[in-house]
Amino acid sequence: MKICMASDHGGFELKNIILKYLQSKGYNILDLGTDSIDSVDYPDFAIKAVKSILNKECSRGIIMCGTGIGISISANRFPGIRAALCWDSLTAKLSRQHNNSNILAMGGRLIGVELAKEIVDVWLNTEFDGGRHEGRINKIDELAKKYWVKYMEGEHESL
Ligand code: RB5
Repeated sequence: MKICMASDHGGFELKNIILKYLQSKGYNILDLGTDSIDSVDYPDFAIKAVKSILNKECSRGIIMCGTGIGISISANRFPGIRAALCWDSLTAKLSRQHNNSNILAMGGRLIGVELAKEIVDVWLNTEFDGGRHEGRINKIDELAKKYWVKYMEGEHESL
């Protein structure tokens, strides 16, 4: 499993710690930046992870900003992406079992290192339950695509 990681400056420190942690466990990690604590815009780093997942370069992604909120909102704009903002092992587990999350988002300024390691371990080692959840996650993209077509046609207010 190849995993991409991306963050803004708010997630930079935790990203580096988790990146090294995962490498020490043998995971193949693609680091998409940012590379310093200099201020950057989280959507620019969300899109890097999104592209890497959608073009199948990586099968999973881990993204971080200060809260995890801005970068997960950005990633979730794209059909095919299910970015889950997780803050404990239960949200991480359920986001895999029920939502088949392909991106894990965390708040670099809110989550301690040991908790982040636990979240990542659970998230990487939990399978999707499928079954009744399959139709629901398919519906997310069906509705998004329908909306975007209307939006591009200037009719999105009629939804
Ligand atoms: C950057 O200061 C901060 O706003 C960003 O990292 C994130 O928390 C936004 O959601």
